Amino acid sequence: MAKSLCVVLILVASLHDCEGALRFASYYGDHMVLQKSPESAVLWGYGPEGAQVTVTLSGPSQQKTSLVDVTNGIWRVTLDPVEAGGPYNVTAAAQSSTATLTDVLFGDIWLCGGQSNMWLQTSKIFNASEELHLAAKYPHVRTFMAALNLSETEETDLLEVELSWSVPPENVAEFSAVCWLFGRYLYETLQYPIGLVESCWGGTPVEVWSSSRALKQCELLQTYSSPKMNSVLWNAMIHPLLNMTIKGAIWYQGEANADYHQDQYNCSFPAMIDDWRMAFHQGSGGQTALDFPFGFVQLSTYIKGSKSDGFPNIRWHQTADNGFVPNRRMQKTFMAVALDLPDATSPFGTIHPRDKQDVAYRLTLGARAVAYNEKGVSFQGPFPKLILSAHDFINITYDQNVSVTPSKDVFEICCAGIETQCGPKSSWVPAPIMHWGPTTVQLSTSLCQPPYKVATLRYAWRDWPCDFKACPIYSASGILPAPPFITNRSPGKGNQEL
Ligand SMILES: *[C@@H]1O[C@H](CO)[C@@H](O)[C@H](O)[C@H]1NC(C)=O
Ligand SMILES: *[C@@H]1O[C@H](CO)[C@@H](O)[C@H](O)[C@H]1NC(C)=O
Ligand SMILES: *[C@@H]1O[C@H](CO)[C@@H](O)[C@H](O)[C@H]1NC(C)=O
Ligand SMILES: *[C@@H]1O[C@H](CO)[C@@H](O)[C@H](O)[C@H]1NC(C)=O
Ligand SMILES: *[C@@H]1O[C@H](CO)[C@@H](O)[C@H](O)[C@H]1NC(C)=O
Ligand SMILES: *[C@@H]1O[C@H](CO)[C@@H](O)[C@H](O)[C@H]1NC(C)=O
Ligand SMILES: *[C@@H]1O[C@H](CO)[C@@H](O)[C@H](O)[C@H]1NC(C)=O
Repeated sequence: MAKSLCVVLILVASLHDCEGALRFASYYGDHMVLQKSPESAVLWGYGPEGAQVTVTLSGPSQQKTSLVDVTNGIWRVTLDPVEAGGPYNVTAAAQSSTATLTDVLFGDIWLCGGQSNMWLQTSKIFNASEELHLAAKYPHVRTFMAALNLSETEETDLLEVELSWSVPPENVAEFSAVCWLFGRYLYETLQYPIGLVESCWGGTPVEVWSSSRALKQCELLQTYSSPKMNSVLWNAMIHPLLNMTIKGAIWYQGEANADYHQDQYNCSFPAMIDDWRMAFHQGSGGQTALDFPFGFVQLSTYIKGSKSDGFPNIRWHQTADNGFVPNRRMQKTFMAVALDLPDATSPFGTIHPRDKQDVAYRLTLGARAVAYNEKGVSFQGPFPKLILSAHDFINITYDQNVSVTPSKDVFEICCAGIETQCGPKSSWVPAPIMHWGPTTVQLSTSLCQPPYKVATLRYAWRDWPCDFKACPIYSASGILPAPPFITNRSPGKGNQEL
């Protein structure tokens, strides 16, 4: 008798404790970074139904929010804007309990998403030991990683946290190298705290990270069996984060779409970006910008000598078939071109090149220009402004000064008769570089013999077009590779016609 009574009491006590405890949602924690002014950080968590919660901020500046009610077990407050800096303690208090976050900084929050090249850990890249050693010098670049979870319904909170907020060098070895280096390089420029939120999963196509709203736009609503099930990672690993204010997002994904809904990627990727922007804006009560900056890595390389046009097509589709970003369809985006960074001996497979420093650095240039409006930062590689075709040569005028290494076959042409069209199965022949000037390149088209004429020109249109940092065309500084292009495939861009 006495024994069973005791059991009942324990049960009641633990239930009470579970419902009664005031706490923050899973992704708020000690050492975290909250979005700085001019935006306002949003905080939310759980508490006993009907309780009134106040949130106080103590540190370099002080704040106390008015009482908010716990409704359906959830409370939520929007702070007044806080300037970059810290450390702060953030305390949520109700009548019976309090929850505190210590060592909180205000800065910019960047979300890092995608598949395995975003996931690839800092411990695995080139010069990993130096990078890990250096990490200790960046205690204001904080990291957080969501666990790999999926769900068939939109979750309110993360199901699990993989790495809670931490101060480098802790957890940097297991953290995304691209995300970490992006944050570290950004910190060098901004000199204020950066919060990095990693939410990515290897081998995943864009469909799993997209809401049904976004998929509907591209007629991709049919469902498939796991792990390619539509929206499952959107539901579990993105939707819960919508209520946090963020500055922007970076993304490294597309390999898994090279053989899965490849033709629709020019729709599905831009649609996902639009949808994330709308959803983060709404979820944060208007704090996250409706057009928040979105940076991404254009696919690197996979199989040397591959005849597949999967990677070239995805690279093109990543730009909504424009070849460069930002463009009219993809505003406030920036892209790190990576097709010149192959790694034939990567122990993680050639699909995972280990030079993530250049990838992250190129992304940072884009962020500085597009997200932070820093003037005079070059972030785009050379792109043709004018293509002029004469009887046995083509002259390309680039939109900037170029650094040229002559190549015999990275430019290719397709020769066609009057009635024929150029497609992937057509016969493509090399167009060697003959001459070049500060902004121009002249190609020989002598391999197109009459009666055939050059119908289409393409550049670096191969899975693995060049050796490491040895593509033919770079910016004059030599840092930014020219992105791949193909003529006559672009929607409404006059300057690519031959
Ligand atoms: C935050 O709380 C910790 C532990 O309670 C305390 O040592 C520290 O002084 C507080 N910091 C601020 C800025 O209030
Ligand atoms: C979440 O993912 C982790 C591993 O990433 C796994 O251990 C855990 O069981 C998952 N939780 C749920 C609720 O699916
Ligand atoms: C996307 O690419 C496919 C295949 O290349 C093409 O048929 C389609 O018109 C493109 N769609 C858009 C929206 O650009
Ligand atoms: C988070 O945002 C979503 C989307 O706007 C909304 O449905 C949800 O209620 C919000 N959750 C909290 C805890 O505020
Ligand atoms: C690795 O370090 C060496 C020596 O400092 C440097 O030359 C090389 O560029 C670094 N590699 C990367 C990918 O950063
Ligand atoms: C491009 O190169 C030309 C000739 O070398 C030089 O005069 C000009 O200043 C350069 N332009 C830029 C923007 O660097
Ligand atoms: C084509 O380029 C070459 C060298 O770059 C230049 O000498 C020639 O005048 C150009 N031709 C035309 C028609 O623009």
